Amino acid sequence: MKLLTLTALASSASASYFSLLAVRSASPMHYGTINANESGIWIGKDAGSYCPPSFAEQNITCPNTGRTVFSSSGVANGSLALGVSVPGAQQVYIDPAYGIVSFTQPHSAQMPEGSILEGWTFSNGSSFGTLSWSNGILFCSLSGNDSSVGPWQMYAALPQLHFGPACLGASLIASNESGPGAWEYL
Ligand SMILES: *[C@@H]1O[C@H](CO)[C@@H](O)[C@H](O)[C@H]1NC(C)=O
Ligand SMILES: *[C@@H]1O[C@H](CO)[C@@H](O)[C@H](O)[C@H]1NC(C)=O
Ligand SMILES: *[C@@H]1O[C@H](CO)[C@@H](O)[C@H](O)[C@H]1NC(C)=O
Ligand SMILES: *[C@@H]1O[C@H](CO)[C@@H](O)[C@H](O)[C@H]1NC(C)=O
Ligand SMILES: *[C@@H]1O[C@H](CO)[C@@H](O)[C@H](O)[C@H]1NC(C)=O
Ligand SMILES: *[C@@H]1O[C@H](CO)[C@@H](O)[C@H](O)[C@H]1NC(C)=O
Repeated sequence: MKLLTLTALASSASASYFSLLAVRSASPMHYGTINANESGIWIGKDAGSYCPPSFAEQNITCPNTGRTVFSSSGVANGSLALGVSVPGAQQVYIDPAYGIVSFTQPHSAQMPEGSILEGWTFSNGSSFGTLSWSNGILFCSLSGNDSSVGPWQMYAALPQLHFGPACLGASLIASNESGPGAWEYL
């Protein structure tokens, strides 16, 4: 356990952390909080985080912000990760067939073949930062055809895909966070 804790500290030393809001005026998703939930990234769902119950008796405290925190440790190379303490981190990836923005499960690098890891750009601003993906980000309603009905799931606008009336493009603004938001996200 000591080793795990040291690894977690080492991996967070060079990272900076942020949480995200969507900007899409004249839509109910405007200023919606963006959360990781059950392998997708959403507006209108709670952050799905997990702290191993055995940690309590070992006196280990998990970060527990209730928000989804992202890490910019890889953005110099165009990649994005969740802001977690779990060793091995959790990588954000884009499904190459559907454009769904997803993330790896703890202790696993598993993702669909051909998944896209790159294309993310982060910039620090004086009042907030921005995160973007090379060809744009969309949020799609589960309703199938009505973009005014939440929750909305995050997609990358892969050029070969057509996104219907359930989807709206949005910008992403970032607020600084002081560290990881959870031990891990589910
Ligand atoms: C995902 O979000 C739903 C709706 O907010 C919530 O009920 C559920 O508990 C969340 N999943 C996890 C793993 O927390
Ligand atoms: C956890 O903290 C309690 C209270 O300080 C202490 O009695 C106990 O020995 C600690 N357990 C471990 C595994 O360090
Ligand atoms: C970025 O990519 C370069 C070249 O592949 C690699 O040496 C470096 O470790 C990477 N940096 C990060 C933060 O992933
Ligand atoms: C944003 O600020 C962090 C922390 O100082 C730094 O690590 C990162 O390189 C900056 N990013 C950009 C794009 O300037
Ligand atoms: C966020 O952190 C970066 C790096 O430390 C800094 O440059 C930027 O001004 C901060 N932004 C806000 C709004 O505090
Ligand atoms: C949306 O889909 C539902 C269910 O298929 C259908 O009943 C409804 O007419 C559709 N609405 C529009 C505006 O296309």
